[in-house]
Amino acid sequence: MMATPATPDAPAAPAADSRGPVHPGWLRIMHWLNALAVVIMVTSGWRIYNAAPFFDFTFPNGATLGGWLGGALQWHFAGMWLLLVNGLLYLGLNLTTGRLWRKFFPVGPRGVARDLAAALRGKLSHADPRHYNQVQRLAYLFVIADITVLVLSGLVLWKSVQFDTLRTLLGGYEFARRIHFFAMALLVAFVAVHLVMVALVPRSLIAMIRGK
Ligand code: HEM
Repeated sequence: MMATPATPDAPAAPAADSRGPVHPGWLRIMHWLNALAVVIMVTSGWRIYNAAPFFDFTFPNGATLGGWLGGALQWHFAGMWLLLVNGLLYLGLNLTTGRLWRKFFPVGPRGVARDLAAALRGKLSHADPRHYNQVQRLAYLFVIADITVLVLSGLVLWKSVQFDTLRTLLGGYEFARRIHFFAMALLVAFVAVHLVMVALVPRSLIAMIRGK
């Protein structure tokens, strides 16, 4: 089979890359475990926030997980391990296999602006599901960084005394709480946009479930 042809931001992929599944099995399992962990963390986190809100709004209890503060904390701490272990395995495999560089780089302001303009004009090609455009690359790199910030600020809120250096780096306990909240809000915004994009290209959902 022929190698994928080179484009300005996609150097010719090795022939092996164009065979086999669009997304390897391990990636698909980790993606769905991550989505589950994110739903558990966000909805139980909303319940925890409701117990001591720092804005003059709370989240509707019906949209939260855990039933009460103690239950929500149990869900949050259980989901935390899934998010952390799965996330570390995802990052470890992406780094050691070189997939991170192949799939998400290069990415830069000009390429993002070009692909965004093409997307808004309905001219962005989805012909090759193995290839992420630069807007996708930026969005996925952003959410990886955002979840990392969520985990780090969460560690400060969980074990403030043990992670005192991290707490200082994040501006103290109360500031770490704000960072945690805003990173959550950005994650929710990512998921909303992500779901719209997936709905626009339903074939990508089949590939993330079945691999092709
Ligand atoms: C809830 C939190 C979620 C997060 C943080 C998230 C994050 C991501 C990331 C980082 C990728 C790129 C994975 C990689 O190639 O390494 C991805 C791909 C994808 N996600 Fe999600 N996702 C979430 C939920 C969902 C949900 C609920 C759906 C569908 C209902 C979905 C459908 C997809 C699809 C179809 C792709 C592949 C896109 C493509 O091939 O163009 N994701 N997601």
